Formats: sequence, C-alpha cells, structure tokens
Amino acid sequence: MFKLMFVVLFLVGVALCSPRPNNAIPASTSSPTSTTSTTVDETTKVASKLTTLKEKVQLTIFYETLCPYSIEFFVEKLEPAVLKLGSYLDLQLVPYGKAQTSNETDSEGRYSFTCQHGAPECRGNLAHACAIDVLRNNTHAVIYNSCLMQSSFEYSDPEDITRCGVSEKVPTKSINDIGKCINGTRGSTLLKSYGEITKANKVLFVPHLKFDGSTEHERDARNNLITVVCNLLNPQPPACHST
Ligand SMILES: *[C@@H]1O[C@H](CO)[C@@H](O)[C@H](O)[C@H]1NC(C)=O
Ligand SMILES: *[C@@H]1O[C@H](CO)[C@@H](O)[C@H](O)[C@H]1NC(C)=O
Ligand SMILES: *[C@@H]1O[C@H](CO)[C@@H](O)[C@H](O)[C@H]1NC(C)=O
Repeated sequence: MFKLMFVVLFLVGVALCSPRPNNAIPASTSSPTSTTSTTVDETTKVASKLTTLKEKVQLTIFYETLCPYSIEFFVEKLEPAVLKLGSYLDLQLVPYGKAQTSNETDSEGRYSFTCQHGAPECRGNLAHACAIDVLRNNTHAVIYNSCLMQSSFEYSDPEDITRCGVSEKVPTKSINDIGKCINGTRGSTLLKSYGEITKANKVLFVPHLKFDGSTEHERDARNNLITVVCNLLNPQPPACHST
C-alpha cells in the first residue's frame, strides 16, 4: 500500500514539487575551476584534512512533508544515515518548504498556513515540528517523523501520531504532548519560525540540504548521504567502515 501510494505521489509530485531538485542547483556551485587552481585546492584540502578534527557534521534539511522528493530523501536516505551516524550529526530539521504563513492569528492565537500540497501537508509539517520540539532528540525525531511520512499521507488521522509513537518507543506523555502541540498555539508558533528560517535561507526547492551552512555537497548527498557525511568527518568513526 505504501509503495503504491508512493509511486502515485511521486508521479503527481513531478509536476508539483518543482523545479526538479537536481536541475535547480545554481550553476555556480558546479562551475569548473581551472586545472591549476584545482590542484592547489586539492593539496590544501588534503593537508587540512590531516590536521583538522571534525567530530560532528552540521546538517540542515529544508523539506515539506508531502513532497515526494522530501519523503524519498527522508525515508530512504536520512533515516538510515541517522541510524548509522546519528551521534556524528548535528541535525536541524526545517519542515516548512514552500508554505506560506498568514500574518493574522485566529481567536486562539494560532497562525494559519497555506501549503504546497494543501492542508494535509500543513498538518504534517505541524506534526514534524511538534515531534522535534517535544522529543528534544533529533535522532529520535527523524525515526518518528519517518514513520509518520511512511504511513500517513493525509495526516488527517491522529491515530498515526499515537501508532508511530508506540512503534518508535515515544513515552505516552510525549505522544499526548505532540498531539496538543499540533492543535495548539505552540505548533503554530514553531511552524511560523520555521517559515522565517526557510525564507531567510532563500530555499527554492525541497529537499534542500546544507552541510555546515554550505550547499557544496548537496547534490552528492541526495544520492549517498552516508558517504558524504563520512568524508566530512575526521577521523572517520568505525560505523563508516561497517556495512
Ligand atoms: C498582513 O499582510 C497584508 C498583506 O501582505 C498587509 O496588507 C497587512 O497590513 C498585514 N497585517 C498585519 C497585521 O501585519
Ligand atoms: C536520542 O534518541 C536515540 C534514538 O532513540 C537514542 O539512541 C539516543 O540515546 C538518544 N540520545 C540522547 C542524548 O538521549
Ligand atoms: C486535535 O484536533 C483533531 C481535529 O480537530 C482531533 O481529532 C484530535 O483529537 C485533537 N487532538 C488532541 C490531542 O487534542
């Protein structure tokens, strides 16, 4: 069922989650440099690699919960990387994407949002934002949010909040807190601030990845996140050499 829905969403998403990520990377990031400067760069890189310790990689991921590219990246690349290398990653998850925040609040003080894939995506973004907030552990949040992404394409079913909580070992109190956050002002405040971070970073497509603030490794990381993270770490942890 998941596979079928994924295929359908993927096809729909080709039209909706545009521009296509790989074509949207600014040309400047891949422009060739001259042979001489490449050689110098490589020498400098190798030299600094020998001396500079790098124990954690900071990775920021801008995404939205119903974009098929975001789902694919999150479930098939990010979760496995986090399971293997979670303690070497300083993750920042930004579940907002191409949404809009209305500048007015309702009678309960909640902002309203318009999302690229409609209201269900706004509920999904809220659920992710609340899980990040309540769990206070982004390794755990990736595992929980990945469960939501695989099961709950419509995010209309609060049962998924509970079911993924139980399957991913979230304490009952935290599951209840996530539910309250989604429906209350906390979730709306979190999502509004994710919108501000997304706008400040001029995100043109999702998923969008930054390593230590740079987009340099984005293209490679879409295909092989674990390798990119391992290549940035120095020394490489044993997990990089196990299968
Ligand atoms: C909300 O946004 C609209 C349109 O951008 C603007 O005209 C209005 O003044 C804003 N309201 C507040 C309270 O900022
Ligand atoms: C974060 O969550 C992961 C996965 O549940 C767990 O293995 C890890 O120990 C947690 N980290 C902290 C600091 O609690
Ligand atoms: C949140 O709101 C939805 C829809 O109105 C409702 O079904 C759900 O039970 C509420 N959850 C909590 C924890 O209040």
